[in-house]
Amino acid sequence: MNVLILPSLLAADVGHLEAAARQAERAGGDALHLDIMDGVFVPNISMGPAVVAMAKRCVTMPLSVHLMLLHPDQYVRRFAEAGATSLLIHIEAACDVPATLRAIRDAGVRPGITLNPGTPVERLDPVFDLVDEVLCMTVEPGYGGQSFMHDVLPKIRAVRERARRTGRPDLDIIVDGGVDLTTAPACARHGANGLVAGTALYKAPDMAADIRTMRAQAAAALA
Ligand code: DX5
Ligand code: ZN
Repeated sequence: MNVLILPSLLAADVGHLEAAARQAERAGGDALHLDIMDGVFVPNISMGPAVVAMAKRCVTMPLSVHLMLLHPDQYVRRFAEAGATSLLIHIEAACDVPATLRAIRDAGVRPGITLNPGTPVERLDPVFDLVDEVLCMTVEPGYGGQSFMHDVLPKIRAVRERARRTGRPDLDIIVDGGVDLTTAPACARHGANGLVAGTALYKAPDMAADIRTMRAQAAAALA
């Protein structure tokens, strides 16, 4: 299984988002991660569909759109039209989560489910068969630049074991929050094949070199 590296645009200079999206592609990122925050589900407001549409115009890499919204069901169509490749909603959202995941697939977009750090793996039960991606938060969502929460690692392993047990070896399990060259191998060792990294990659002097290193070290550690 390949390891996917997803630079997170949240950590880019907001005055130069086009250049930052292109930089992530040129540096060898596998997909661009875009964090959408509504100021209600999380205590911060970030970007909207217009930024996803901008990225769609600038890059050909897939767009992984992480909806930190209380009511993601109301925005599926707009983000699908903007060009999202994946739409990752939260299991903690205030909507009919299985119905929203079906609506995402019906819109021609890969559905993904996100778990906050404190949310147990059992919450996946009703939606496991409906998703192509599981995003495990290793920080409380809302801000970039926070410290990686190591105590989430056993949950990542539990998701991978569940995927194997249920005949889903190709399920993408992605980690988001505090991922850098130090923490990435542990994520892979616990079964994650995708790594979102914002601060670590956008602050790196050579993003391409760090993406290569992160991918190689994670691939060597992949469980
Ligand atoms: C946090 C976001 C993350 C964020 C990660 O709510 O979901 O995607 O960009 O940023 P770093 O890599 O800086 O922790
Ligand atoms: Zn995110």
